[in-house]
Amino acid sequence: MQWDAYFCRMRRKNKRQVFENVEVVDAGAKGKTIGKAPDGRVIFLTNTVPGDVVDVQTTKKRKAYFEGIATAFHSYSDKRVEPHCEHFGVCGGCKWQDMGYEHQLFYKQQEIENNLKRIGHLELPETTPILGSEKQYFYRNKMEFSFSDSRWMTLDEIKSDEEITDRDALGFHIPGMWDKILDIKKCHLQQDPSNAIRLDTRDFAIKNGLTFFNPRHQHGELRSLMIRTASTGELMVMIQFHDDNKVNRELILNHLKETFPEITSLLYVINQKQNDTIYDQEIICFAGRNHIFEEMEGLKFKINAKSFYQTNSAQAYELYKLTREFADLKGNELVYDLYTGTGTIAQFVSKKAKKVVGIESVPEAIEDAKANAERNKIDNVDFFVGDMRNVFNENFIQTHGTPDVIITDPPRVGMHKDVVQQILNIAPEKVVYVSCNSATQARDLELMKHAYQVIKVQPVDMFPQTHHVENIVLLKKL
Ligand SMILES: C[S@@+](CC[C@H](N)C(=O)[O-])C[C@H]1O[C@@H](n2cnc3c(N)ncnc32)[C@H](O)[C@@H]1O
Repeated sequence: MQWDAYFCRMRRKNKRQVFENVEVVDAGAKGKTIGKAPDGRVIFLTNTVPGDVVDVQTTKKRKAYFEGIATAFHSYSDKRVEPHCEHFGVCGGCKWQDMGYEHQLFYKQQEIENNLKRIGHLELPETTPILGSEKQYFYRNKMEFSFSDSRWMTLDEIKSDEEITDRDALGFHIPGMWDKILDIKKCHLQQDPSNAIRLDTRDFAIKNGLTFFNPRHQHGELRSLMIRTASTGELMVMIQFHDDNKVNRELILNHLKETFPEITSLLYVINQKQNDTIYDQEIICFAGRNHIFEEMEGLKFKINAKSFYQTNSAQAYELYKLTREFADLKGNELVYDLYTGTGTIAQFVSKKAKKVVGIESVPEAIEDAKANAERNKIDNVDFFVGDMRNVFNENFIQTHGTPDVIITDPPRVGMHKDVVQQILNIAPEKVVYVSCNSATQARDLELMKHAYQVIKVQPVDMFPQTHHVENIVLLKKL
């Protein structure tokens, strides 16, 4: 672990302080754990588990709190477990791997209740216990790895006199360092052949002289690798290139096609922009189809490289079932599904509604939503594309009808206040608010609390080993 290098950097920025025998008492926002300084100020820690007793070196000082790192452990918490992953502590993902799963669930539930009470100032009914994930590893259906020609090196490598020639990496960003990539040997988040494909791609590229991306100077051929698996057994692989060399591009894609015949969708994109988002880029199909299928309750969902689909398919099913249960439709309702993605929730609840209207900003997702509905022989859904703030307006309501129930599932930033206001203007009997960020959910719900009562709160864990958690809230008009 590179704490020495980390401290050097921090020392330059801040006057550090050392606190001895600090008991770690809690865990919460952004996955940080919490201790108390002798003056009563909170210390946010990154490498401890509640119950540890540690010496802390501060890395940041603010008026109300410190940030710090445990440098010595006097005793270890009984909530600790052995992390599965050899990259734990350096990699930015799965930061709660050293805490037993039942404790992860406890702190997730607590975080949601705290946010709803402290940020939203809401009166809560008794919250239903969080629904844990059956699979606690290898649960993700989508992973994105970055290539880099400036691999994150271990302290031993830095200290060694030997010249390091192998600087290429394919893996994840080091937290807080946009240009440093940790080379990943085994990731415990996505089922095989995810690891095999990543390792093979890296080795083949190195052996054949393909260049890895340099984010500082913006050059190099290989930029990112996306792998999507599905419950149907289908498999999508997409390589993002920066510099385009047709011979090398075809060499590596043909190699993947031959080595992994189970790939049903082999794609690439040539992206020479500064950032690596693909939403404004043309995705090219090299072999197979340009999409894969997910399946849920007999419904088929077509997923292309740009589509949003919940990353834990098994828990997504639980989430959707609970959302449908909360909506408690009788068959005569007009339902709006805001932020519909590929129309999954809309189609999932459609059998129980008179009609469902879905709105989403990504045009490709809406194309898929329409194709999905047709394939699933669902004719009581309609989908519209555009920024929610613009599309979901008075005119739209007049044209498509006033909803009896609104289901909303916004991205992490939550809903724009104009969207919240529009829901208030429409004043449907019921709102089901699904969220992956209970802080923004609480902020939005506070704006609605004069008109709506929180009836049910159901946290669902979609992301074991991380602090992230999904939450469903049922609101009823007062
Ligand atoms: C958390 S996802 C929910 C998707 C869907 N409900 C599901 O479960 O698969 C949020 C969706 O909101 C879309 N989105 C983000 N910002 C938006 C905006 N301003 N207007 C409309 N849709 C937006 C994203 O593209 C994404 O599909």
